[in-house]
Amino acid sequence: MNYKGKLLRDNALKGKTIVVTGGGSGLGKAMSTYFLELGANVVITSRNMEKLTKVKAELEEKTGGKVLAVPCDVREYDQVEVLVNATTDAFGSADVLVNNAAGNFISPTERLSSNAFDTIIDIVLKGTKNCTLAFGKHWIEKKETEKSVLNIVTTYAWTGSAYVVPSATAKAGVLAMTRSLAVEWAKYGMRFNAIAPGPFPTKGAWDRLLPGDLKDKFDMTKKVPLKRVGEHQELANLAAYLVSDFSAYINGEVITIDGGEWLKGAGQFNMLEQIPEEMWDMLEMMIRSKKKG
Ligand code: HXC
Ligand code: NAP
Repeated sequence: MNYKGKLLRDNALKGKTIVVTGGGSGLGKAMSTYFLELGANVVITSRNMEKLTKVKAELEEKTGGKVLAVPCDVREYDQVEVLVNATTDAFGSADVLVNNAAGNFISPTERLSSNAFDTIIDIVLKGTKNCTLAFGKHWIEKKETEKSVLNIVTTYAWTGSAYVVPSATAKAGVLAMTRSLAVEWAKYGMRFNAIAPGPFPTKGAWDRLLPGDLKDKFDMTKKVPLKRVGEHQELANLAAYLVSDFSAYINGEVITIDGGEWLKGAGQFNMLEQIPEEMWDMLEMMIRSKKKG
């Protein structure tokens, strides 16, 4: 099966300008690459300008597209306003905002300082709020329509998860923001959607969520019914579709791309998968005999 293939036709995003927060690494870089391949201009942003400059050169060389690199800590509203202005100066306007930047690490919650908890909430929830508010206000003021915001959340935005409590709390907020603004700002010509990825190995996430030999101890593929982790291109395909005009009637949706991982953890009897095929005859007989008794 060719799940590493590219989904959309050439130039499917031509004429669009797409801002990707955290676009210099991991999934943000994968999405940025594919958006460029599909003809979009892309603005990549993070706190590390040295990294962004390198990635800009790499992506322009690889795709022939136009990349603007802007340093911006999404926690700081004034820096986000600079990002809006830099995007407008370079490309006229932004058409799409992808709120992808995130911070996260595993920790028992009682070990967290108040500042540690705040740091994650600030990057994920406040950062998404800052970018959404700054771009949203700009689009409303300029009466620009046909805009779209794509928020990258996680499946534990609705299940919650132990040991990543600030992240779960913040992602739940981002999901609520997605659904709320999908309704409230539709009148201004904006769509809001979210993607909830399962495990997609990236250095940023794996160094903080599976440090040291935890990678071997907790084999993520075992948690996924499809028995594999995600390929970056699969996520980029979904993101490209959701920011393209092909998804113009999708609004307020969160699309899970996790090979069935979170449902495997949720279904009460999913553990019966461990029962060997040959045991089922005996189990069935035991159950049927109870009915007679
Ligand atoms: C406990 C910690 C800690 C740790 C930092 N802190 N690391 N506390 N355990 N492992 C505390 C610090 O001591 C400090 O609190 C506070 O957190 C802020 O730390 P700083 O290092 O000053 O913050 P900053 O430089 O802003 O860095 C933010 C960061 C860092 C989140 C800590 O890891 C980062 O830059 N992350 C960005 C990339 C990232 O996290 N990517 C993963 C996304 S993965 P005190 O009280 O000492 O001041 C993801 C996937 C989800 O979201 C699902 C996967 C399946
Ligand atoms: P990553 O490589 O660590 O990417 C995180 C990005 O966010 C980095 O580019 C980082 O850049 C940027 N960032 C962090 N703090 C920032 C700040 N204050 N201001 C601006 N940018 C900031 O992680 P990833 O795995 O690609 O994750 C991307 C997204 O997917 C995140 O939203 C994550 O929650 C989500 N996700 C990932 C997985 C997975 O399995 N990988 C699963 C579920 C959800 P700088 O450090 O240069 O600032």
